[in-house]
Amino acid sequence: MNDPVENAKRLAAFKAVDNHVVGGVIGIGSGSTVVYAVERLAQRVKDEGLEVICVPSSFQAKQLIIQHGLKLGDLEMNPNLKVTIDGADESDHMLTLIKGGGGCLTQEKILASCAEEFVVIADYRKASTHLGEQWSKGIPIEVIPSAYRVVYHKIEKMLGGKSELRMSGSSKAGPVVTDNGNFILDWNFEGVKDWKEVEITLNMIPGVVENGLFVGMARKAYFGMSDGSVMERD
Ligand code: 5RP
Repeated sequence: MNDPVENAKRLAAFKAVDNHVVGGVIGIGSGSTVVYAVERLAQRVKDEGLEVICVPSSFQAKQLIIQHGLKLGDLEMNPNLKVTIDGADESDHMLTLIKGGGGCLTQEKILASCAEEFVVIADYRKASTHLGEQWSKGIPIEVIPSAYRVVYHKIEKMLGGKSELRMSGSSKAGPVVTDNGNFILDWNFEGVKDWKEVEITLNMIPGVVENGLFVGMARKAYFGMSDGSVMERD
């Protein structure tokens, strides 16, 4: 593979699947890195007879599972996951994450919370020391459509910074709508010290469904590097 970023994603995803999946019910995150994790799972099912049930975090993840011929499950039938494997938009040195670049943060956080182990896979561009060093688009916040303006003003009043309603490719197409039928605000923060407090504060605002800060959830992260190695953080 010639593209160093795609190669890095693939390396991280393959290593995470090989090190953490021994069978059982697996949570499948969303995004471009997860594509490689599903590819590796499908290979192992075929080659080793690995037995897995995959619970998707999004429409995209569900399509991937189906396309690869893997067993599809849901949280009603399988509320306890062995491991959830997911990408991230940024991870700091404590494995505090920003997620939701693809707008699937709510289901992703639910799957992470149901797993014995939550494992992150990403390319080298996502690893930082402090949040905000790499990901400049802010923290995604899923909001009830009718409340987006109210939430927007409350966030600015309570936490400062600036929020933007996420729009589809062409702004004429209107706001991005999540799999849950909601909108996304991207909040650009300033000088935050306590991410857990921010995560809780955001979720206390009526109209907020969930936010893309994942604090203290990830057990392990694999970052594919440009030199072909994989950096591990835990
Ligand atoms: C989707 C997410 C993704 O995991 C995140 O955006 C990373 O995506 P990619 O693997 O394409 O870099 O949180 O809501």
